Amino acid sequence: MKLMVIGGGGREHAIIKALKKNPAVEEIFALPGNGGIAADATCVPIGAKDIPAIVEFAKENAIDFAVVAPDDPLVLGCVDALNAVGVACFGPTADAAIIEGSKAFSKDLMHKYGIPTARYETFTDLDAALSYLDTQSAPIVVKASGLALGKGVIIAETIDEAKQAAREMMAEGKFGESGKCVVIEEYLTGPEVSVLAFTDGKAMVPMVSSMDHKRALDGDRGLNTGGMGTVAPNPYYTKEVADRCMEEIFLPTMRAMNSENRTFRGCLYFGLMITPDGPKVIEYNCRFGDPETQVVLPLLKTDLLTIMQAVSAGTLSEVDVEFYDGCACCVVLASEGYPASYEKGYPITLPETAPDTEIYIAGAKRDGDTLLTSGGRVLGAVARAEDLPAAIEKAYALADQIQFDNKYLRKDIGQRALRALS
Ligand code: AMP
Ligand code: GLY
Repeated sequence: MKLMVIGGGGREHAIIKALKKNPAVEEIFALPGNGGIAADATCVPIGAKDIPAIVEFAKENAIDFAVVAPDDPLVLGCVDALNAVGVACFGPTADAAIIEGSKAFSKDLMHKYGIPTARYETFTDLDAALSYLDTQSAPIVVKASGLALGKGVIIAETIDEAKQAAREMMAEGKFGESGKCVVIEEYLTGPEVSVLAFTDGKAMVPMVSSMDHKRALDGDRGLNTGGMGTVAPNPYYTKEVADRCMEEIFLPTMRAMNSENRTFRGCLYFGLMITPDGPKVIEYNCRFGDPETQVVLPLLKTDLLTIMQAVSAGTLSEVDVEFYDGCACCVVLASEGYPASYEKGYPITLPETAPDTEIYIAGAKRDGDTLLTSGGRVLGAVARAEDLPAAIEKAYALADQIQFDNKYLRKDIGQRALRALS
């Protein structure tokens, strides 16, 4: 089989390495991939949002199956366009990807179908948003409705700060069209849990849970990033919480999308907060998380391609999806300065990976035989072990052996999870 994976980050590298394990796979193309992915797939310089070029490439190369990983192409209808020329895909069509593409849509969906989430109001008129804020108390959360590279959420400590955020989004064009519509919502408290789930609209199969570390600095301080590290499973996701999530959130979401004629087929990401009133949805994503995927897929026992094809064919209930016991940890190695400005172009030295470890490259390009840093998040050092302390220790030992100038990493990935376990 010839496969094509759209995207070019650490998540895509993890997906490609998992797909390669299936002996029926002859070749994998990554569009655009990156310098590190090039060791595992044929990289093609076509951007993830260039849907006409992606479709053309799929036709010319007789691609049998495509995995569309990032949010942008999914929301833009990449799966629809590929399906239209007969290419089977893993990933939702645009009418279902809206669950991430529009927070106004997802909040209304949850409200309509009684799925627990923060109380909210949606605004397209700035004056109405400002008047509403006068009736609220802080802290309060202001979110750009559309896609904003994970940066469109402002946790305002004061009402003035919330008004400023609303003005910047709605009047001053911060986040462009994505910020013209804002959701203002209640501030929730509690530990956060990420759950990725396979679904074909009939079966709902949650994967092992995980915990992201979104802030740039140790102790969860500093700017929000795409994610500085992850551990799986998440100790806050107990059996009792998992059962409640299935009944109150996962299945109701799948059924709600079916009722709206927007059947979701792919990986549905539930960003959850375990509040004193029970689990609530903070956000939905229409795709695998990054860097959640880097700890979830190493724990997947069942063949990934088999699952993805079943999701696409609507036969997921026939596949027995199994995970290994044990834990995984991903430490992201970034360029110093990320997520603000940083330098790049430094050579990366990689060690041989030991059993139960992986290096997933996110931001690197190839210069002859040398790999050079080319992004904010450069790579993920991942380890699997019997328990969480061992997984964390192994991931940091691996991270220590990877060298490049300007290397920056958080020192405390997994410490919050360890505290929860003690
Ligand atoms: P999102 O991009 O929607 O995942 O939001 C980014 C981060 O903002 C989340 O991971 C939470 O830590 C935080 N957040 C979002 N919504 C809320 C809320 N209603 N209450 C408290 N924190 C929130
Ligand atoms: N790690 C969060 C995300 O992928 O959106």
